[in-house]
Amino acid sequence: MKIKYYAAPMEGLTGYLFRPIHNEIFGGADRYFTPFVSPNATCKFQTKELDELQHNGGMAVIPQILTNCSEHFLWAAREMWEMGYREVNFNLGCPSGTVTAKRKGAGALAYPDELDRMLGEIFAGLPQGMGVSVKTRIGKESPEEWGRLLEIYNRYPLAELIVHPRVQKEFYRGRARREMAGEILAATELPVCYNGDVFSPEDACAVERDYPRLSAVMVGRGLVTDPALLRRIRGGTPASREELRQFHDRLFEAYCRRLSGDLNAIYRMRELWNYLSGSFTDPDDFLKRVRKAKTRTDYLSAVERLFGENALNPHPLPPPGK
Ligand SMILES: Cc1cc2nc3c(=O)[nH]c(=O)nc-3n(C[C@H](O)[C@H](O)[C@H](O)COP(=O)(O)O)c2cc1C
Repeated sequence: MKIKYYAAPMEGLTGYLFRPIHNEIFGGADRYFTPFVSPNATCKFQTKELDELQHNGGMAVIPQILTNCSEHFLWAAREMWEMGYREVNFNLGCPSGTVTAKRKGAGALAYPDELDRMLGEIFAGLPQGMGVSVKTRIGKESPEEWGRLLEIYNRYPLAELIVHPRVQKEFYRGRARREMAGEILAATELPVCYNGDVFSPEDACAVERDYPRLSAVMVGRGLVTDPALLRRIRGGTPASREELRQFHDRLFEAYCRRLSGDLNAIYRMRELWNYLSGSFTDPDDFLKRVRKAKTRTDYLSAVERLFGENALNPHPLPPPGK
């Protein structure tokens, strides 16, 4: 079976405005995952969470849920079922301190018994026919935690086990333990999706060659750095200057329309440029100018100069450790 390619959920980057523009210009991912929504006792999605769920026509989109409470998970999953979603993803990987302190995201991995109970309650209460995948790190403090975690995951009919082989305390530092994909595949019957440090067609080729039984590969920072990465992996052309320009202009305009004020749109674009600037050979001056820009005019003049003066980088790479 052909390995599928997924676009990773990335808070502030791959949201509901990014996905359709990316899909149209660069050819889509086999699946996009939404950045997490966080259901709570109010039983109400925030407006920005509803936006994430309601603007996904024409693409395969899997909503992601972040919670430490099976009741809240089930409420959200049922709402998503009503909206037409047939699969949801459970975030067990977010490394942020504010999240993990609440035993959410990768914080849940330090409490395997609670995790087991939560999965039991989730699978007992899901709408019939709904699938749940998990997106997990391999531990909180140490990869030695993985054996116990996999033993738990193996007891549930997960739609897919998406593994980012770093532990929580590493955040995105060092390198992902790609070689763990082999032992994971050998120890589970679940479909396994590998996620971590796939930044080029060569990386993707090596993963496919070494682990052909993977169901999918999920790509995050690499795709925001080079929006044409999946097309290149499929044998297609790199991003052209015109495509990058169009991608930028449409996204910036969409942010300006949907966020209140140009400054918020500029802040959002700064986040994107932390990665997307890797598509250019010498972006340092540009990044300085963009970080200073407080008005639409200053921002757009920095962008104009970048596109006018900078060559495209044939080997885009995200910034290390970010
Ligand atoms: C800025 C940023 C935001 C992220 N937001 C999410 C998120 O909302 N949900 C999630 O499961 N992972 C999130 N991640 C993790 C990515 O989905 C992915 O697992 C991680 O970047 C490793 O994959 P990569 O090496 O291909 O980038 C985020 C990562 C970054 C850098």
